[in-house]
Parts: sequence; C-alpha cells; structure tokens
Amino acid sequence: LLAIDYSLRFLFGWTQKLSFSARDSINRLKVYNFKPHPSDVIIATYPKSGTTWMQAILYQLKTDGDLDNIEHIMRFSPYLEEEIDRVEQLSSNRIIKTHLPPDELIIEPSAKYIYVQRDGLDTAISYFEHHKLIKKYTGNFEQFFEKYVNGDVPYGSWFEHTKKWLALKNRDNILFVNFEELKNNPKDEIKRISDFLDIEMTKEKYERTINRSSFDYMKRHEDKFCAVKYFVSQHFGTGNFINKGIVGRGKFISDKQRKQFKNKMTEYFPDNPE
Ligand code: A3P
Repeated sequence: LLAIDYSLRFLFGWTQKLSFSARDSINRLKVYNFKPHPSDVIIATYPKSGTTWMQAILYQLKTDGDLDNIEHIMRFSPYLEEEIDRVEQLSSNRIIKTHLPPDELIIEPSAKYIYVQRDGLDTAISYFEHHKLIKKYTGNFEQFFEKYVNGDVPYGSWFEHTKKWLALKNRDNILFVNFEELKNNPKDEIKRISDFLDIEMTKEKYERTINRSSFDYMKRHEDKFCAVKYFVSQHFGTGNFINKGIVGRGKFISDKQRKQFKNKMTEYFPDNPE
C-alpha cells in the first residue's frame, strides 16, 4: 500500500502546479521515500512563514553560532525538496528544512519537528513579494491573492497545509511555533525551542541566540540567509529576502479580500475561524 501511495504521489507531484523534469521526478521520489534519522530535526513551514528565521535560531543553538564558519545557512540546514542528495549524504543529526505537508513526509516518531506557522494574510503578502522577487510572477496582488486563497500557488493551499500540521498538535515530537509569538516574545520562544531540543543553555548562548536571530542581525548578514541567492542566482542583491519581518502586514488588504479569507477560514477551521 505504501508503495502504491508513493507512486501516486510521484505521478501527481506534490504541488501539481510546477512543471518538472525527469531529474526532478527522480528527486521527488527520493524525497517521498526519505525517512528521517531519529536524531534529525525537521523545520516544517508553509513558504514565507519564518523558515530561515528558525534555521538561524537552530544554528545558534546547535553550533558556536559564528557565521564566518558557514558560507550560507543552507549549508547548515539543507532544503529537503531541493537538496535531497546532500540530505542523504549527511545521514544523521541533520537540521532539515521542508515546506511539505505532513502527509507528504514520512514522519519519524523519534525525530523532532518544529512547525512554524504565520498569520495567513501576512504570509500572502510575503509570498506575493517573494514571487515578484524571483521574477516568476507578473500579476498584481489582487490576482495573486485569488490564486493564494484557492491554493493555486507552489505548495498549494495555506489553509490545507496549516490544517494538516495542526492536526498533529498532540504529538510530543512536534513543536508548534507562531511567527507572531516569536516576534513579540523571542526570549520565551527561544527558551521553549531549546527545551524541546534538550539543549543545555548558558546565559551567553541564550543571549547570543536572541541577538543573532534578531531581524536586524539577519538583515545585516542577509547574504548568509537569502535563499534566493543560494538557490536561484548568486547575483541576487540583498535587502529583500530578510524583508520587512513584521506582524500585521495583512491589515492593508481590501475588505473584499479579508472576507474571502475569512470564508475560507470558516470552511477549514469551523471551530476556530480566527
Ligand atoms: P516578510 O516578507 O513579511 O518580511 P521564509 O524564511 O519562510 O521564507 O520567511 C520569510 C519571512 O520571514 C520574511 O517576511 C522575512 O522578512 C521574515 N524574517 C526572516 N527573518 C526574520 C527575523 N529574524 N525576524 C522577523 N522576521 C524575519
């Protein structure tokens, strides 16, 4: 059954929306069959929800935190869907980034997962800007938003993705972190993350982690954190990936869009549409 399941996923692709080459297809199959090691930590997010931020936090928690020691944060924490071969070479104690929903991953009960969730409207704006940034998308925000609420973007519906991860909320090996809480209260959230990972904290490491995962610090070192520079073009300038880093970006969207979003929230989260 598992084999059929994976073959079907392979045939249909995980986002359906992206065209992919034969090489990509083989990689996809490898990704679907990827079984984490019990010592791995997996950072799972819908795109633009604070993935790189969490990678930066774990870099501080798991190493001496010196950015001079890495060319790019992806060298420390590879992206499962893009770098499956390197993920496999590393074999254990990995910090892996993924945007896949849980039903497209093999969940290893002894590995640890950190799911970062961000407000859906803020994510929409950040995702739109990201599309613009990589020059893939020529439409305006209204057109993008229409696609976003209908799940017609890479990685599909934010509502579905969020709902699938939240359904695992009672699992001990998955930590749920909110972008907004991390922004408003980094001290407590970093403590929660280090406790979850059983990392012994000194005062120095704690303070260093807070400082070096701050927006200002990451912006200053954007060349080490910019995924576009790493995956799309080395020539990509800095200043737009570690972008605004604020909560409440969605407040500028129109009433019509807000209503559309709310209707979807009610559809997917009838018990808690807020
Ligand atoms: P904005 O585009 O709203 O500014 P991801 O890493 O998943 O692609 O998420 C990118 C978003 O996280 C961007 O949001 C980026 O600015 C924000 N971000 C990255 N590091 C941050 C930090 N230290 N503090 C706050 N936001 C951060």
